[in-house]
Amino acid sequence: KSLRIREVCSMAPILPVLVVEDAANARPLAEALVAGGLPALEVTLRTPAALDVIRAMADLPGSVVGAGTLVMPEDVRAAKDAGAQFGVSPGATDALIAACEAEGLPLLPGAVTASEAMRLLEKGYDILKFFPAEAAGGVPVLKALAAPLPQISFCPTGGISNANAREYLSLPNVICAGGSWVAPVKMVQGRDWAGIEALARQAAMLSANSAS
Ligand code: 3PG
Repeated sequence: KSLRIREVCSMAPILPVLVVEDAANARPLAEALVAGGLPALEVTLRTPAALDVIRAMADLPGSVVGAGTLVMPEDVRAAKDAGAQFGVSPGATDALIAACEAEGLPLLPGAVTASEAMRLLEKGYDILKFFPAEAAGGVPVLKALAAPLPQISFCPTGGISNANAREYLSLPNVICAGGSWVAPVKMVQGRDWAGIEALARQAAMLSANSAS
């Protein structure tokens, strides 16, 4: 499971977190992000259209589309059926993990504390989402966790932008970072695909110094 999440997190320094209201925007949005150099995409299950959005993006060549905001075990089947190739959760529960393993959906589970991270490590998960990154203490917390838990890599998400991504990506225990800034809702609604491609290109030029 971690192996495939490692591949997803190694495709680019930034994993776009997408909140898409209108499935008609899904395909051009994904094309713009992929063209800009961000092939792994997280579609959050936060809009009624989310599963249709995943369906519309799933077969785009050169992209890997996952479902974010997995909370309940039933979200997992729906995401998988829509074509999601990986899942992301802000946290982790035994039921959610069991559902992902039963469905064969690689999971990027969320953890903030040492105990949360250690419980996931015991289950074989060594790449974890660190959410909400900025609100939970950001770079200093990740730096501190690297000392006792160097075998765990994080994908910090929440409050990250082009302005602070580089600082996160310079940490040895950060494999990639996630965020919605590369696809702002207003730009998606305005169908500003060239603008989104430019944001993606800028994000793709950031580089992860991950030792993992
Ligand atoms: C997530 O689900 O990962 C976050 O909501 C994304 O946070 P951001 O909008 O601050 O990038």
